[in-house]
Amino acid sequence: MTFATAADPSAGPSAPSGHHRLLSASGPSGTALSLADHRRTYPAPPTPRRPREDLIATVERAGLLGRGGAGFPTGRKLRAVAAGRRRPVVVVNGTEGEPVSGKDALLLRTAPHLVLDGAALAAAAIGARAVVIGVDRLNRAALAAVDRALAERRDSDPDGVPMRLAPTPPHYVTGEESALVHWINGGEAKPTRVPPRPFEKGVDGRPTLVDNVETLAHLAQILRFGSDWFRQRGTPAEPGTILATVSGAVARPGVYEVSAGFPLADLLAGAGTPDGVSAVLVGGYFGFWLDARAAASARLSHDDLRRRGGGLGCGAVAVLPGRCLRPHRDRPGDGLAGRRDRRPVRPLRPRPGRPGRDSR
Ligand SMILES: Cc1cc2nc3c(=O)[nH]c(=O)nc-3n(C[C@H](O)[C@H](O)[C@H](O)COP(=O)(O)O)c2cc1C
Repeated sequence: MTFATAADPSAGPSAPSGHHRLLSASGPSGTALSLADHRRTYPAPPTPRRPREDLIATVERAGLLGRGGAGFPTGRKLRAVAAGRRRPVVVVNGTEGEPVSGKDALLLRTAPHLVLDGAALAAAAIGARAVVIGVDRLNRAALAAVDRALAERRDSDPDGVPMRLAPTPPHYVTGEESALVHWINGGEAKPTRVPPRPFEKGVDGRPTLVDNVETLAHLAQILRFGSDWFRQRGTPAEPGTILATVSGAVARPGVYEVSAGFPLADLLAGAGTPDGVSAVLVGGYFGFWLDARAAASARLSHDDLRRRGGGLGCGAVAVLPGRCLRPHRDRPGDGLAGRRDRRPVRPLRPRPGRPGRDSR
């Protein structure tokens, strides 16, 4: 087994070919695979001393866009960090402060080795020798899963890139990259003035790659199965699958893996909407409301949703039932028609401990 190189071999025989890609990397009934079982599909990442141009080029060819919200091209960010003068650092952003998102927690809990492989491969690509994994300190299950996974890796691969877990303050802004870096550096978890941005000057003043958990899980699969395999799903501009967290007035709330560009109506049909749909909040706090008519034709892509005035964000989808008050503004905090006060809309939380069908 080899990781894809500049030659970028096509998908190997063990590449996930069915509906699930990321969600195929967990064990039975959504438990985390042991490192030994994980390694049957995913070989140990290399630990080179210098940046690996071939790895960066493969990620660029795959066209991976960051899954933390902004959809920034991951290959471009790898290249920018690798170009810094000092040895860089990788930060895994697993803070997931968005109230209606649960995909990163799910990956950390059920496929921690895939995420950690992604971090190790990103480190190999840019020549980093340190990885910090930021996880919300209230998310005990994810912290425990990552902690266990790190212990397994230390035992089996003592020469691997050093990784440490950093339980983070449970605030929405902690996940903003400059806030996360500031906190890791011993400051408050609040955004700092930029520039310099973390990719220039981040953890310990070093160039720092901050990437979302899901982004790094995709990166691990791209460097295992190739950019052509990754591009078999999604659209040419937004390749691959995305994890969508569906909550609110649905029969089966949870995390669903679908191709980027998937029709929102089909996702909602899969999740079941017995009470009908009056509006859908897409992208969480940074997202926007779609009324039922717009939701019927929208697609889960940055392109489509930007054209409608919003964005895909972190892929969170929260459904208001039919015959509910209709949102009259396009941002979640702006209030609802018929409300007398101006308090922000209470977020719809996915039911804890009830991952959706596709999340296993
Ligand atoms: C207020 C705010 C909160 C954010 N919260 C998160 C978060 O919880 N998780 C995350 O991955 N990115 C979050 N981001 C985006 C990060 O700043 C950063 O863009 C992201 O971690 C980069 O990873 P990616 O390129 O893999 O998407 C947030 C941004 C803002 C402005």
